[in-house]
Amino acid sequence: MKEAGITSASIGVFAWTMLEPRDGCYEFEWLDQVMDRFAEEGMHVFLATPSGSKPMWLSEKHPEVCRVGKNGIRETSGGRHNHCLSSILYREKCRMINTQLAGRYKKHPALALWHVGNEFSGECHCSNCRSAFQSWLKQRYKTLDELNLAWWSAFWNHTFTDWEQIPTNDSSIDGLQLDWLRFTNEQHISFLLNEMRPLRELTPDVPCTTNFMGTHESNNYWQWAEHLDILANDLYPMPDDRGKSWRNAIRLDFAHSLMRGMGMGKPWMLLECSPSSVNWGEINKLKRPGVHRQELLQALANGANTIHYFQWRKGRGGSEKYHGAVVDHEGSNCSRVFQDCAAIGTELNQLSHLYKHDCIQAEVAMLYDWESRWSLNLSSGPKKIQAIEPFPSDLYNENCYDHYEALTRIGVTVDILSVKSDFSGYKVLILPSLYLIKEDLVKKLLNFVQSGGHLVATFLTGYVNVSNCCWQGGFPGAGLRKLFGIWNEELDNLHDETHVSVVGEVKGTAKDVVERIHLEGAHALAWAGSEFYSGSPLITEHTYGKGSASYLATRFEMPVLLDYYTNLNCRAGVQQTLGLDLPEGVVFRVRESEAGKIGFLFNYNRESQWIDLRDQNLVSFYDPQVKYSGELLMKPYESFVLKFK
Ligand code: GAL
Repeated sequence: MKEAGITSASIGVFAWTMLEPRDGCYEFEWLDQVMDRFAEEGMHVFLATPSGSKPMWLSEKHPEVCRVGKNGIRETSGGRHNHCLSSILYREKCRMINTQLAGRYKKHPALALWHVGNEFSGECHCSNCRSAFQSWLKQRYKTLDELNLAWWSAFWNHTFTDWEQIPTNDSSIDGLQLDWLRFTNEQHISFLLNEMRPLRELTPDVPCTTNFMGTHESNNYWQWAEHLDILANDLYPMPDDRGKSWRNAIRLDFAHSLMRGMGMGKPWMLLECSPSSVNWGEINKLKRPGVHRQELLQALANGANTIHYFQWRKGRGGSEKYHGAVVDHEGSNCSRVFQDCAAIGTELNQLSHLYKHDCIQAEVAMLYDWESRWSLNLSSGPKKIQAIEPFPSDLYNENCYDHYEALTRIGVTVDILSVKSDFSGYKVLILPSLYLIKEDLVKKLLNFVQSGGHLVATFLTGYVNVSNCCWQGGFPGAGLRKLFGIWNEELDNLHDETHVSVVGEVKGTAKDVVERIHLEGAHALAWAGSEFYSGSPLITEHTYGKGSASYLATRFEMPVLLDYYTNLNCRAGVQQTLGLDLPEGVVFRVRESEAGKIGFLFNYNRESQWIDLRDQNLVSFYDPQVKYSGELLMKPYESFVLKFK
């Protein structure tokens, strides 16, 4: 491990039966040995709680700890991440084993962090969860009349006359589904807090984390982040070099910025990634030379302070025996991957100057809002788009990626914020499809614009309230109509083959959805050039107070967005991170360090790229004699770590 540059390891994930082979009989000797060995070597352990997969003896003895699917059928003990979220018994068993672990290792020199559970996700529809959901609803709505109104449940005769009638799985009531997602998200958090209680009591100085999964569709991580001592993410990009390879890299960047945002600029941990391929995709391609180093430096450049692999060594059997690992089945240090890991391990050590500093705040921010994503996906009507493999995606996420990509490509860093964040300090704030809008947020947005901020909203902003019921009085609702100076009368959904032409200050095409906008104080910067709504505004801008509120009424193709943001940034005084135009797929990032600012320059293309650094005074971080200025050829997937002279 030391030879591979490894300084710490997560241990004990899914190890419950080894720790407690029979109910109440604990066996820690094997773990003592492992912990001691790490301590002797001056290394650290991230000790996992084993709740991610329950022991067979427990499901056999108490079947109620197993999850029930949406179809009402109780699952057997297979797979993992498979416990009922409400089971008092399971929570108690977790509390007990965590108490044992914390009690035994509280003074152990190797213990550095608690890795609580693993990638919490999923839902359970058992009778306990259903009752818990009903109680949660009672607390939220107080009366059935309030609930029926919020869910618009008279429609199709779904009026509830008794709390106990409320199901967990009726997908025809979108308000119910939205509350079910909120409830399940909170169940996970309360499960996590139950696990952390004994850890915090017995080891108050050992931080707790759990591994997030980027923009996982059903976990509202903004809420989770409030409870953790440090944030951690897992990331498994799937190398796909058929198209524009840099597009994947920009999506990874988005996930990193989200972590940075959730930690309010504090560094975070990359708790899992593969040093080579995964095994669970359709096509599990090896990372091309340079990609592994590039991915890790990219995470670092975006605020990661630790890099961990899944996994140290390939198992002989089981469903992940072909998953990438530092050590192969062959077992030695001779493999390409081992050598690669060792090299990056040395490099990460050299970059230790970075780790004490928070991330630099950007000038542009974007809101990422799970509640809007959920309510949009649950609403039947607006276009559903094909996800781009391998991760589930949707129109909401794709729209966020579009805007993030446009800004990244013109050299601007974007911070990602939640509806609760402080927006002051940003010059531009983007709301991609902020479909669900609450009045208190509208007040914040008005303040932001009034005091000089530039607000950019896109199609599908301000349609519904907190219960997924449409705002009346014209979209965008809740007061946004006045702020944007427009009325959005109707939405056209387009077939994939149909494109609408765009004319005006920016030109090009648009796709998927188009809204028909009327100006009510705003002026138009671009219009539709085709379809029956040719001449209808597609980009509007409204001067309001000292700032402006712009509305982008369709999903523009990238060239339009690039031009739009280039112009807007000029008006808003937003600087490029490096003050240079870089070719497609070449990105520059900066982080603060004890040794001054450190720059990271990435060529995410699988082809070489000429760049022109002009009179930049940059030198290699590792060798100040090596200067970077003027024209330079970057090899495929090449990354430079730089210092400003
Ligand atoms: C993660 C999980 C790991 C491992 C990995 C494989 O989702 O936490 O245990 O299964 O995926 O890529």
